[in-house]
Amino acid sequence: MIVLGIETSCDETGVALYDNKQGLLSHALYSQIEMHREYGGVVPELASRDHIRCIVPLIRQVLVESDCTLNTIDAIAYTQGPGLAGALLVGASIGAALGFALSIPTIGIHHLEGHVLSPLLSTPAPQFPFIALLVSGGHTQLMRVDGIGRYQLLGETVDDAAGEAFDKTAKLLGLGYPGGAALSRFAEQGRPGRFKLPSPMLHSSDFNFSFSGLKTAVLTLIHQQPDDRQTYADIAWAFQDAVITVLVEKALAALAESGLNQLVVAGGVGANKQLRCHLTERAEAIGAAVFYPQLEFCTDNGAMIALAGALRLQAAGGYRDVSTCGFTVRARWNLVQTLCG
Ligand code: KG4
Ligand code: ZN
Repeated sequence: MIVLGIETSCDETGVALYDNKQGLLSHALYSQIEMHREYGGVVPELASRDHIRCIVPLIRQVLVESDCTLNTIDAIAYTQGPGLAGALLVGASIGAALGFALSIPTIGIHHLEGHVLSPLLSTPAPQFPFIALLVSGGHTQLMRVDGIGRYQLLGETVDDAAGEAFDKTAKLLGLGYPGGAALSRFAEQGRPGRFKLPSPMLHSSDFNFSFSGLKTAVLTLIHQQPDDRQTYADIAWAFQDAVITVLVEKALAALAESGLNQLVVAGGVGANKQLRCHLTERAEAIGAAVFYPQLEFCTDNGAMIALAGALRLQAAGGYRDVSTCGFTVRARWNLVQTLCG
């Protein structure tokens, strides 16, 4: 079964073809970051218009690159939510229209399900059940994953997501938008130990997170300290260390409590080098394995949506024929309640 995956939830247009026998056939991505940069964040209306501009050429590109035609596609998976409503509608509309025209199944996928399953695109892939640490720009969650559609939320952020904290702190340090990767690179020039920032909720004895106070702590430091590059790099190091410490400790605690020995890390912050390094080291010390998506599949992409669609269709039950019931998007959508409740 060959599935065309379409991702348009935010500022990346992602398209991919996934074959459940051969794996990923091809994928293409267009990032709108340059367009949004001058506004310091994503402008929803511009995002929707740009998805419209890019989506058909990208679909053509993945077909050509994998020697497929529209008639080779067996099903279409598109991101149904959560995300920007107008942006989601672009992917949903083209997905539903193609599905209708080709008379093939079309399935709406939860964006976070795509992220959580993205390490299954790599070899070796994790086996169910596993613990998932989802760290993106909009979400920070720890989940127990027992199978496709079987997700149990263990804890989540009570305010900012980890990626959001990286982005806001990067802005305070003058690193531009989106700042996660830039802050991480800048922190490499920082000196460990000059500043110590609190790791919020480290000892809260649950699996919840809080990152908004950390951003305020950074702002206070910036006001108290000299305004030079080395100081800023030292602050970046301390910020990153505080975030990573709490992510690592809680992920390991979730592993310990569940008795499982596989941890999956997904979402944009999963690209962070320090996080990968610390997690892998600590997990290996307790005999657990950590699985990451390839770097290019940490942030938003069509491959994870095509994969989630293929796995859902294979597991059956997720199929919805839009030719008879129309389609919708869900700007706000809770993965655990919607799919398992
Ligand atoms: O998963 P994603 O592409 O989008 C959402 O679904 O939210 O994640 C984007 C987030 C942004 O906040 C970005 O700053 C962050 O991931 N990010 C990073 C790194 N690369 C991307 N954060 C820390 N270190 C990185 N290397
Ligand atoms: Zn995402």
